[in-house]
Amino acid sequence: MAGPIVEATRYVDVSDVEAVKEGEGTIVFVGVRRLALFRVGDEVHCIENRCPHAGGFLGLGRVEGCQVRCPRHDWAFDFTTGDCLSDPRYDVRRYPVRVEEGRVLVGVAE
Ligand code: FES
Repeated sequence: MAGPIVEATRYVDVSDVEAVKEGEGTIVFVGVRRLALFRVGDEVHCIENRCPHAGGFLGLGRVEGCQVRCPRHDWAFDFTTGDCLSDPRYDVRRYPVRVEEGRVLVGVAE
């Protein structure tokens, strides 16, 4: 089962795409919310930074392919689908992303 995806009502410019490196997470703020960006080639994916298990910062986790490992208890998440691969009850929320003119835009619902 995939993690829920936010139905965007607007897109927020959060980063230069070149600042989002492959193989590591990038934490950005939208208001008071922390989100984690991950890049695979030309695509950028965005999930909630807060691990749904116990609040680890997924943006600081170890990245392997399309997976990130939570730094707190090493659970694996697929950041392209939001799937928690360690326990499907803990899928993580995803945010839609657009890359336009070198900028990363994240969709939020507010
Ligand atoms: S807080 Fe992320 S796996 Fe426990």
